[in-house]
Amino acid sequence: MAAAFEHTSVLLERVVDLFDPVPSGTIVDATLGGAGHASAILERRPDIDVLGLDQDDDALAAGSARLAEFGDRARVVKARFDTLDAVVESHGVGQVSGVLFDLGVSSPQFDRPERGFSYRADGPIDMRQDRSQVRTAADLVNGAEPAELERVLREYGDERFAGPIARSIVAARPLAGTLELADVVRSAIPARFRRTGGHPAKRTFQACRMWTNDEPAVLQAGLDAALSVTAPGGRVAVISFHSGEDRIVKATFRRAETGGCTCPSGLPCVCGAVPIARLLKRGGWTATADELHANPRASSARLRAVEILPLRSNEDPS
Ligand SMILES: C[S@@+](CC[C@H](N)C(=O)[O-])C[C@H]1O[C@@H](n2cnc3c(N)ncnc32)[C@H](O)[C@@H]1O
Repeated sequence: MAAAFEHTSVLLERVVDLFDPVPSGTIVDATLGGAGHASAILERRPDIDVLGLDQDDDALAAGSARLAEFGDRARVVKARFDTLDAVVESHGVGQVSGVLFDLGVSSPQFDRPERGFSYRADGPIDMRQDRSQVRTAADLVNGAEPAELERVLREYGDERFAGPIARSIVAARPLAGTLELADVVRSAIPARFRRTGGHPAKRTFQACRMWTNDEPAVLQAGLDAALSVTAPGGRVAVISFHSGEDRIVKATFRRAETGGCTCPSGLPCVCGAVPIARLLKRGGWTATADELHANPRASSARLRAVEILPLRSNEDPS
């Protein structure tokens, strides 16, 4: 029997409230996971159905089981979310009422050592969300040029010791498992910097995971697709868990809000930019103290959301 899929959805009430005012129709849950958010939205809005995407087979099985009670109001598809516009089209949905992204790793992915996401339990250096994909984190750790490895650790992990860590990894090759990798990383970080900022290998593992699943490029393409398929009055909401993801979300929503206006601030816009969305809350939302108490994973979560404006740049106003 498959292991239980236990994942506590973050910012659940806030997400459900956010989709309360959207028009009737379909909401895409681009990161279905255990379908906690999706089922809460379906419960709140009987006039909404959900198209749920995930690239992880375990999540798809868990999400489908959780959504079974909603019958044909819920459809589940194996897909990477940068293809969500094509998935929407192939399901005969025109514009959607909203898109939700709850980024990153689900608790079961992290808790199953054989998936290779964990620096606390030994497993292969894998970190693929879609296990049919060829590239694994071992290709980076054991195969990348030292300079490329250092770049990935610095850019994707915000790791200030990217240089020493990359050199230590290269010297220790081939690394066999996640605990060995965590150990090499730990020894490369000066002792006085190991005491703060959580587990010393956290940033390296995050960077390896992002590289393995091509996360920054996929996120950018997914957000662009979401903005393009959402109807006026519909909403796009994203929960991110670290600054690298949040920077992409913030910049994308800013472009949607300004239409990419290049005019000096404070002066009227003369560059012809057409805003397509309004930001629902500058800075977004974070978890309340009560939620943090119940679910420490929510501590790094930030939710940002936009609402699509009535007039789209690609629509003819006449
Ligand atoms: C944090 S969990 C989502 C949890 C879900 N919101 C819930 O309430 O149960 C993130 C899920 O997104 C999936 N995922 C991450 N990146 C993805 C991508 N680019 N395309 C499709 N699924 C993705 C992961 O496999 C994982 O199941």
